[in-house]
Amino acid sequence: MFLKKNTFKFLLLTVILSVVLSACGTAAAPAAPAAPAAPAAFGQASCAPNCTYKDMVMCYPQLGAESDWRTANTASFKDQAAKDGFQLVFSDAQQKQENQISAVRACIQQGVSVIALPPVVEDGWDAVLTEAKNAGIPVIIVDRSVSADPSLYVSHIGSDMKLEGERAAEEFNKKFPNGAKILELSGTTGSGAAVGRAEGFRAKLNKNIEIIDSQTGNFTRAEAVPVMQAFLQKYKPGTDFQGIFIHNDDMGLGAIEALKAAGVKPGDLFIVSVDGTRGGFQAMIDGWFQADVECNPLLGPQVAEMALKLMNGQPIDKNVLTNETVYYPDKAAELLPSRKY
Ligand code: AHR
Repeated sequence: MFLKKNTFKFLLLTVILSVVLSACGTAAAPAAPAAPAAPAAFGQASCAPNCTYKDMVMCYPQLGAESDWRTANTASFKDQAAKDGFQLVFSDAQQKQENQISAVRACIQQGVSVIALPPVVEDGWDAVLTEAKNAGIPVIIVDRSVSADPSLYVSHIGSDMKLEGERAAEEFNKKFPNGAKILELSGTTGSGAAVGRAEGFRAKLNKNIEIIDSQTGNFTRAEAVPVMQAFLQKYKPGTDFQGIFIHNDDMGLGAIEALKAAGVKPGDLFIVSVDGTRGGFQAMIDGWFQADVECNPLLGPQVAEMALKLMNGQPIDKNVLTNETVYYPDKAAELLPSRKY
C-alpha cells in the first residue's frame, strides 16, 4: 500500500514536471518563420483579386484604318469598352510603326493597366516591349504577330495567318489539278499577316501552280488599283495567268476595279481573297471571288477578358488562335445579311 502510494506520487510528479518542462521548452523555441507570400503574377493590379472592368485602363494603339477589317476591329474594341465600362486609350498610327511605338511609350508614361498591341509589322518591337515590361505593364499582342522574344509579351490573340495562306492554296490546288500560272497581291510588306499568308500559301501550293509575280498593295483598296493595272500591262488575263491570290478583301475590291476597266469579266479569272468582309461576300455574289478565307477582326471581347484576368493575377494562355473557316459563293447571299463586318 505504502509502495503503491509513493509510486503514484512519483508518477504524478514526473507528469507535472514533464508538462512544465515541455511548456517552458515551447515558449523558449524560436518562432517558425512565416511562409513567404507568393510573388504577384506579372501584370497583377493592386485591386487583385477583385478587379473589375471599372479598374481597367486599356491602351489600344491601333495600326491604322487601311481596310474594312480594320474598321471592324477598331469598333470591336470601342464597343467592348463601352459595354464593359473600361477606359480605352485609343490611337491610330496610320500604318506607321514609329507612330505605334510613340503611342505605346505614351501609354507606358500614363501607367495604363494593359497594352493591347496590333503590330503593323513583325520586326522592331524589342526596345519598346522591354520598356513596357520594365514598367510592369503587360502587353497582349493582338491580330498580327511580332518577331520579338515571347518573354517580352504575355500573350498573342489573333488569326493563324499561315493557315489562312494554306487554305487559299488548297482552293487553287482543287481548281487547277493540271497546273496554272497565278499572281499574288500581297499585304503590307513585313507584316505578320502578309508574311504568314505568303508562307502558308507557298507551303501548300501544288508544284505545278506557278506564282509568276507578287506585289504588295499594302492591304488598301486604293493602292491595289495601280498594282493590278501594272499587272495587266505585263500579263494577259487568261493567257499569261489564270488566277490571283489576294491577301485581303479591300485589295480584292481595288483589283476588281482595275479588272473591270480592262474588260475582264467575273469568272474569267479564279480569285481567292482573305477576310470575309461584307465587300468580299458581295464580290462572291457578283462572281468575282471564288472563295474568301475568313480572318475574324472581332477580338475586343477576348482581349478584354484576358486583360481582366491579368489584372486579377489569374493564369492566361500564351497563344490564342481564332477559329476560322472558308466562305464560298454558293452560301454568300444567304450569309451576307448576318455578317457583322
Ligand atoms: O492583320 C489582318 C489584316 O489586316 C486583314 O486581313 C486586313 O484586311 C487588314 O488590313
